[in-house]
Amino acid sequence: MRNNLLIKLNFASFVIFVSGCILLIYHQNTNPKSTVIYPSRVFHTDDLQDLKEGRYYDYNSMNVTPTTKSPNKTPLKIILLWNAMTPELSNNPFNTFSCPMTSCLFTADMSLIHQSDVVLLRIDVLDDMPLNRQPHQRFVFLHVESPVATKLSIMDNPRFRYNYFNWTMTYRRDSDIFLRDYYGSVVNRSKVVNESAERDKEMAALIKGKTKMVTWFVSHCSTEIRREEYARQLGQHVPVDIFGNCSNECPYDCYEMLRTEYKFYLAFENSWCPDYVTEKFTRPLIHDAVPIVLGGADYSHFAPPGSYINARDFKSPKELADFLILLNNTETLYASYFDWKKDFRVMKSDMSGWCDLCQLAHNESLPIKVYPDIKRWWMLDEAGCEYNSTKYF
Ligand SMILES: *[C@@H]1O[C@H](CO)[C@@H](O)[C@H](O)[C@H]1NC(C)=O
Ligand SMILES: *[C@@H]1O[C@H](CO)[C@@H](O)[C@H](O)[C@H]1NC(C)=O
Ligand SMILES: *[C@@H]1O[C@H](CO)[C@@H](O)[C@H](O)[C@H]1NC(C)=O
Ligand SMILES: *[C@@H]1O[C@H](CO)[C@@H](O)[C@H](O)[C@H]1NC(C)=O
Ligand SMILES: *[C@@H]1O[C@H](CO)[C@@H](O)[C@H](O)[C@H]1NC(C)=O
Ligand SMILES: *[C@@H]1O[C@H](CO)[C@@H](O)[C@H](O)[C@H]1NC(C)=O
Ligand SMILES: *[C@@H]1O[C@H](CO)[C@@H](O)[C@H](O)[C@H]1NC(C)=O
Repeated sequence: MRNNLLIKLNFASFVIFVSGCILLIYHQNTNPKSTVIYPSRVFHTDDLQDLKEGRYYDYNSMNVTPTTKSPNKTPLKIILLWNAMTPELSNNPFNTFSCPMTSCLFTADMSLIHQSDVVLLRIDVLDDMPLNRQPHQRFVFLHVESPVATKLSIMDNPRFRYNYFNWTMTYRRDSDIFLRDYYGSVVNRSKVVNESAERDKEMAALIKGKTKMVTWFVSHCSTEIRREEYARQLGQHVPVDIFGNCSNECPYDCYEMLRTEYKFYLAFENSWCPDYVTEKFTRPLIHDAVPIVLGGADYSHFAPPGSYINARDFKSPKELADFLILLNNTETLYASYFDWKKDFRVMKSDMSGWCDLCQLAHNESLPIKVYPDIKRWWMLDEAGCEYNSTKYF
């Protein structure tokens, strides 16, 4: 149940985040005094008129230093979230994540389709898509799930499959906008942290205090790729404690238990696709356990060496188990799996993709771009997902 809850929370956080991206334009057609609500400010009819007539200003910068700085007149780019959920008033993500370029207005007001510079189409919630478009507009294929979980109804509709999307915004590194979002990222620390002797001691004590081997919080008990079979076989050689929908609930807070008791965590993805590395990976890194990864990504692009163990580097679950036992018996070797923390840190959510989007929207020298066949790009050629894991165990 607990893990079930986690998954829901993750989805909820995504929903909240997307809502967070929506700087709500609150447009009441019935009311002549319609207002635009923008971060914590209320704009009146004149401002809305500005928007509609193409005078967009970076009210954002005006907000930051309203008295000391004259208004920054960088034109705003309008980024429309087509078919988003009900827009809710929330914070400006650009303030929250301090993007270098903030002159973008996110909106879910579909009546601004003609004023929009960028139209984001979230593939997993889409029922219909705009057909009328202007040549300067960028239609963006926005997706956070893997191809394995992509609805075919849209990918197979020739109207959208061919020559429709200008940009892609996904977790794949070869997207126009690389988006990790709530999957989180491991990033280089911009400055060396002062590792106090005290903190070193705390970490050493934590590591020493871990007495259990492997745990896994999981809600989808059986997957096409059969990761559960790998876990089962691993469990024949080394203790693997599974919590969540498929077995027991955690006896107390899952993350606290992970941090204090367990040495390893199974970060097994349910789709094995290039670059598909989800919060299952960042979770143990945040909670001081060593991830054992199993997925389709080249993990060296996502975290420094020595921060995780890749199950696919071993011939069999038995060989992996032998290695885990070796680490269990060699304290210094196990402890070395935390050395990366001196130079890197984990961002639980990585919103830099949204900053990049705003920057791209402002770049007038980018060429025209069209994906001739989005299904090919997403699901057929480079996608290269694996569907049969038999050879790994
Ligand atoms: C991290 O960044 C610093 C400077 O910003 C650089 O000198 C260092 O090589 C980087 N480390 C890694 C592992 O990328
Ligand atoms: C680092 O921490 C030590 C002890 O905690 C302290 O004496 C020292 O001044 C710190 N150095 C910096 C650059 O903060
Ligand atoms: C929870 O487990 C049951 C079977 O044990 C399964 O049918 C259901 O889909 C699972 N729920 C989730 C969210 O995975
Ligand atoms: C791991 O090490 C602890 C003591 O350090 C030991 O009690 C335990 O049996 C070991 N577990 C395995 C699976 O080897
Ligand atoms: C705009 O895009 C071009 C081509 O990719 C790039 O060379 C340039 O640095 C970008 N300009 C800015 C301001 O980001
Ligand atoms: C976007 O794609 C459309 C449809 O193929 C195309 O006509 C248009 O030129 C593209 N726009 C840009 C800015 O790339
Ligand atoms: C997966 O591959 C194995 C051979 O490596 C084969 O025997 C098995 O039938 C395949 N399974 C599926 C579902 O295709």
